[in-house]
Amino acid sequence: MLKIEGLKVNVEGKEILHGIDLEVPEGKVVTLMGPNGSGKTTLIMTIMGFSGYEVTSGRIIFKGRDITHLPVHERAKMGIGLAFQRPPVIRGVKTRQIVEIAASVRGKEVDPYELAQEVNMEEFLDREVNLGFSGGEMKRSEILQLMAMDPDLLLLDEPESGVDLESIGLLGRAINKILGRNIEPVEGKSIKELKAARKKSALIITHTGHILNYIDADIGYVLIKGRIVCSGNPLEILRTIEKYGYKECERCL
Ligand SMILES: Nc1ncnc2c1ncn2[C@@H]1O[C@H](COP(=O)(O)OP(=O)(O)OP(=O)(O)O)[C@@H](O)[C@H]1O
Ligand SMILES: [Mg+2]
Repeated sequence: MLKIEGLKVNVEGKEILHGIDLEVPEGKVVTLMGPNGSGKTTLIMTIMGFSGYEVTSGRIIFKGRDITHLPVHERAKMGIGLAFQRPPVIRGVKTRQIVEIAASVRGKEVDPYELAQEVNMEEFLDREVNLGFSGGEMKRSEILQLMAMDPDLLLLDEPESGVDLESIGLLGRAINKILGRNIEPVEGKSIKELKAARKKSALIITHTGHILNYIDADIGYVLIKGRIVCSGNPLEILRTIEKYGYKECERCL
């Protein structure tokens, strides 16, 4: 689904990412962990194609196509969707409108009210996007927009940060739904068959791993000071960091 090769990125003339190699296979959920300021947000903003993130070396391949220099709206059309760490306020645009716009990017029509019910956002549809929203409400609004857009690759930048424990479950279920992941058993299908049928992918940045109580992650990466220092079992990585801190990851350097 996504392949990043030797990616170096400058922000404001300073190199933040020093040669990243990372893969998100079709149907898989990949986690990205790392200390504050290690470059996690820089990486996913660069994958989405925002200006201000200058690729000086390497490439980004999505669905077999080199998208390194494609504009952000083209990437969105191809099926990449992003939920911001700190979502911007958009004055003059109602949440209902941005939900409709998000759907139209992928040529779809949706019922904003129906979608909003799934993340308890019905009362926010006629408010301007993120204006005065609490931290957790903004995160739910981000997922609502992704539900409308229905991308093939989800880039989630700390989706659970600032979200109360109960709502994390709500978000987890909504994300699983976008990913087309059946958490309920299906008669006549083995778990192996169900897993093999997964087509959509996600790259999730998380500090606490709380979202992983609801989403079955497949691969984990650790980013430190602009370099990938390890990859492996996401839960094992999380437990190791909880127990020994990022120092243990740095030993791998
Ligand atoms: N516009 C900018 N000008 C200067 N430095 C920047 C700019 N944007 C990002 N940086 C720097 O790049 C580094 C990486 O930032 P980034 O936001 O990618 O970190 P992060 O891993 O997402 O951290 P966090 O866990 O705190 O969200 C930081 O040191 C940050 O200050
Ligand atoms: Mg960040």
